[in-house]
Amino acid sequence: MNCIVITGGCGFIGSNFIRFQLKTYSDRRIINVDKLTYAGNLENLADVNADPRYTFHHGDICDREFIDCVLQSGEVDGVINFAAESHVDRSILDSGPFIQTNIVGTQVLMDACRCRNVPRFLQVSTDEVYGSLGSEGYFTEQTSLAPNSPYSASKTAADLLVRSYCHTFDFPGIVTRSSNNYGPFQFPEKIIPLFISKLVNDEQLPVYGTGENVRDWIHVLDHCRGVDAAFQRGRVGEVYNFGGNTEVKNIELTYLLLEMMGKPESLIKLVDDRPGHDMRYAIDFSKAQTELNWAPQTDFRSGLKETIDWYLSNTEWCKRIMSGEYLTYYEAQYGQRL
Ligand code: NAD
Ligand code: TYD
Repeated sequence: MNCIVITGGCGFIGSNFIRFQLKTYSDRRIINVDKLTYAGNLENLADVNADPRYTFHHGDICDREFIDCVLQSGEVDGVINFAAESHVDRSILDSGPFIQTNIVGTQVLMDACRCRNVPRFLQVSTDEVYGSLGSEGYFTEQTSLAPNSPYSASKTAADLLVRSYCHTFDFPGIVTRSSNNYGPFQFPEKIIPLFISKLVNDEQLPVYGTGENVRDWIHVLDHCRGVDAAFQRGRVGEVYNFGGNTEVKNIELTYLLLEMMGKPESLIKLVDDRPGHDMRYAIDFSKAQTELNWAPQTDFRSGLKETIDWYLSNTEWCKRIMSGEYLTYYEAQYGQRL
């Protein structure tokens, strides 16, 4: 697998994945396709820009002509689709872009891959397609799909499209589903980077509802290793779950961030809950362990400490992002709550 097209490579996970690939494989060529939405940032890959193995194409995965051109530009050994609208809260404010990019974009990519006989397609998906758990149990790859937000519904539709293409056209598709990622370069509207940026300025932390909701946290590099393993060794037509073995209540996460950053508990502000807020996510990743020889390696406390340090060393990166469109979103999301 020498030349891979990565979509959404200027976002959080995509940029970490590209850096990881170029570091790990000396003969790997990467073609990055990104629309540069609010979440896509060329700065995230400033350090690999000059690498001759790396090429960037600015464009939309929903644009078939553009994708055809990208796939014609060289022998492509596979496509990994990270491109998406990725934030649940934004999907509640406006689901339109989610339907377009997450569903139509995936269909366009797969059709283009079929025409060019691209030998491998990996769809990066999420545990949120399984819906919400009570206090017991884990999501396995057999768990029924029961998405609860417009974001997760759009990701589920895309997963099912991949499944249908594999079944109908013998399409070489694989789906991976991971739990909540954290680490460097995450856009500061997701809870961990948002709360870190707020604490830097001694601002209040908007915890939704009672903060009892549980998320399973996986370090972004553990997720990247999982996607790489599934891409290289996964079986076509299969789904692989990745989790971090780290279930944490939002309120516990908030206390941990306060403790690690030496800030007072008075900064916690319980605000109105997210509509339709999923209660608990927890992942059974034994299939990935058995078939891909994959397991998460990063301990949550040390990964979180490193992440805090990264944000503290990159305050200018945050400041540049948290301007313009970000402020409009922030006002719509939190204006009445804080
Ligand atoms: P992100 O929002 O940080 O980045 C998304 C990237 O996709 C951006 O660079 C954006 O410019 C690009 N993009 C958006 N629409 C596009 C379009 N139409 N054409 C081309 N590029 C487009 O997202 P992320 O957190 O890096 O997530 C990447 C993938 O992983 C997504 O598919 C997401 O559903 C999935 N995922 C994320 C998490 C998580 O915790 N962040 C967990 C599980 C799965
Ligand atoms: P988020 O980072 O948006 O990821 P996801 O919705 O994909 O899980 O949210 C993680 C959890 O944190 C989720 O239970 C909602 C909660 N949350 C807050 O309590 N306050 C916030 O300001 C945000 C953004 C999230």
